This record gives sequence, structure tokens and C-alpha cells, in this order.
Amino acid sequence: MPDACNRHWRSLLWYRSLRPETFIPENERHVTQITITRTATPGQLPADETLAFGKVFSDHMFLMNYEEGKGWHNPRIEPYGPFSLDPATCVLPYGQAIFDGLKAFRGVAGQIRLFRVGDHARRLNKSGHYLCIPEIDPAIVEESIRTLVQVDQRWVPSLPGTSLYIRPTVIATETFLGVHPSHSYLYYVIVGPVGAYYKEGMNPVSILASDQYVRAVKGGLGAAKTAGNYAASLFGAEEAQKAGYTQVLWLDGVEHKYLDEVGTMNIMLKIGDEVITPPLNGAILAGITRDSVLTLLRDWGLRVSERPIAIDDVLAAARAGTLEMWGTGTAAVISPVGELGYKGERYIINGGRTGALTQKLYDTIVGIQYGTAPDPHGWASLLGG
Ligand SMILES: Cc1ncc(COP(=O)(O)O)c(C=O)c1O
Repeated sequence: MPDACNRHWRSLLWYRSLRPETFIPENERHVTQITITRTATPGQLPADETLAFGKVFSDHMFLMNYEEGKGWHNPRIEPYGPFSLDPATCVLPYGQAIFDGLKAFRGVAGQIRLFRVGDHARRLNKSGHYLCIPEIDPAIVEESIRTLVQVDQRWVPSLPGTSLYIRPTVIATETFLGVHPSHSYLYYVIVGPVGAYYKEGMNPVSILASDQYVRAVKGGLGAAKTAGNYAASLFGAEEAQKAGYTQVLWLDGVEHKYLDEVGTMNIMLKIGDEVITPPLNGAILAGITRDSVLTLLRDWGLRVSERPIAIDDVLAAARAGTLEMWGTGTAAVISPVGELGYKGERYIINGGRTGALTQKLYDTIVGIQYGTAPDPHGWASLLGG
């Protein structure tokens, strides 16, 4: 941890010593801690059939501030609305920002389930470490999400495949020009209904392995969910689209030889009887879906390896017809890869069709999310449960 971050940990310890959990009874905690101001003008719900991704937001948002010496304070839910920021707010030029993304699902009997909310809260906290952002107790992150979804539960859509997308974010809010960690932050959560990712069944994508552009490097910020990583991916993604591909297959930042990620998903492939995914080497985001898939595959007794995969080995398996390949992420759950481009050549994977294992993984995770399949690992937790 760089020296510049140390003062945050000192103030965190001070804050922890003041935390009221020790004297507020368990069942009164969140009412005592989170102030809720309800909107006087509730919005009209869009029809589930019209939902896209990231266009519509609910009636409320969660907010909490941090100041050095005071810690995280003033947790509150307010009507959804714009922020007012000084033009010199340091997050704007220097990008000290982290976020996460997860979903709530309205499943059997209309009950609302949050998928692996505790793991997403822990990952947000971990992302903060890389950017010198003071720790937010994952229990508080989880409570902020649960309380907001509870308040805005009418916004969770019902049509199969739809969900409520949840976006917790932390931004640096101090006003200054100069490069150092901010002394103040805003944590906020917004939510909005999103449409089914696959409206007409699973559709294999075409991906271009980039030998020119990289998303992240070891020792950088690839393992954090931070704004700059997405900015860094835009140019390469546009070039891939111009060449007729949907996504970029990111190769490692040093040798441009080993697979890192695909688009904004983790990459996995099956060659013969071995399922392989790159190890979490510091340049790769530890996807929650990645972990869910690896856990299921191990439950099913498959041979699973987290090891570097060279692009040449992938091409050889594609030529031999022994390759199945897919991306994993919250938005799509599983995204089959039907075509791979590299250095001007196009390779068809698994006949351009969704593989059997890819489909089984998708069906199993979606079943857990909507409560129609057994959930042996307790990943989906009921709202209010
Ligand atoms: C860069 C990147 N990799 C991988 C993932 C997949 O992570 P998860 O499965 O937690 O959604 C995401 C999406 O959050 C991402 O943005």
C-alpha cells in the first residue's frame, strides 16, 4: 500500500471505534442508520418488453460521504437526481473512481433475489484498495443495496430474463488540481430495470484477438473495477467493431501472447476434456460469474485449470475442432464465442454454435438467479430474507 494511502487506514480505524453496531440492536440497525427521504413524484414504470440496458433509473438513490478525520457518514436514501460538482472535483481529471455491477431478479412467486451481493460488496472494497479509496465495510455496502432495492422494489421487472441492475460507485470529491489521493469521497448506488440480454435465445459472438491494444497490465489496475480501465478499452473496441467483430479478446500487456479477458467479461474455453481460464494475475478482474462457473464445473467433476493460455494453442484447438469458448459476466451471464479473428484470419469455433457445456452453465446460473434451480452454495439471497 503506497504511503499516500496510509492516512485513510488510520482514519478508518478511528471510524470503526465509533461505529454504533455495538450498541444498536440488530433489528433496528438500518432504520437507525440510513435516513430515507421518499420522492413526492414517483416515476412511471416502463413496460418490461421495452427495457434495454442502462437507460432507465428508479425513483431513489443511496448516498454516503467520506471526509478524512470523520470517516464514512450520513448514509441516506434520497429521490434520484443529478449531483452538483465543482469543475475542479478531482475525480474528473484524475479518475479516482471505482464501481461494481450486480443484479436483482424477480423469480418464482414474485420473490426478489439478489445474486452474490456480499461478494460484489467485497469486490467494491477491494477495488478501492488499488485506488487509495478508504475502505467501506462490505456489510454497509450490502445493507445500502438491500435497503435501496427494498425502497424501489416496484422497479424490479417481472418478464423472464429481465432484472434490476444495481450500480454502486465511489468517486473522489475533493476540489483540487494535482495528483494525490482525495481527502473526501461520495459513495452512491443507483438501480434501474434492464431487459433480457438474449431476447431470441443465445447468440454466439465474434471476437478479435488484438495484437495492438491492451486493456491492462500486471502491476496496473486491471484487477480493479475502475473507470480508467473502461476508458482504456474504448479505442481497441471501436477498431474491432470497424473490422466486423463484436468484442475484443484482450491479450496480455507484455508479450501479447496470452489471453486476459474478452470485452468486459472473463474468458473461458474447453479443449478436449479440460476447461481453462487465465489465472487472476493482477491484470484480470476477479469476475463473480467466473467464480460461479468454476465452482459449478468443479461440482460437476470436470477438469478445471486456472493457467495461462497462449493464443497459438487456442488457434490450434480451433483448427482441430476441439474448442468450445465463452465469456462470463453479470450482464450476459454466459456469452458463447462462435468466431475468432487474429492477424487477418478468421476461425470458426464449435461450428459457430453454442456448445453443450456453455448452454448448461447458462441454464444453471439463470435457474439459480430466478429461483427455479437448486442453489447449493446459497448465491441468491431473498430480499428481506
Ligand atoms: C473487465 C471485466 N471483466 C470481467 C467482468 C465480469 O465480472 P462479473 O462476473 O463479476 O460481472 C466484468 C464485469 O463486471 C468486467 O467489467
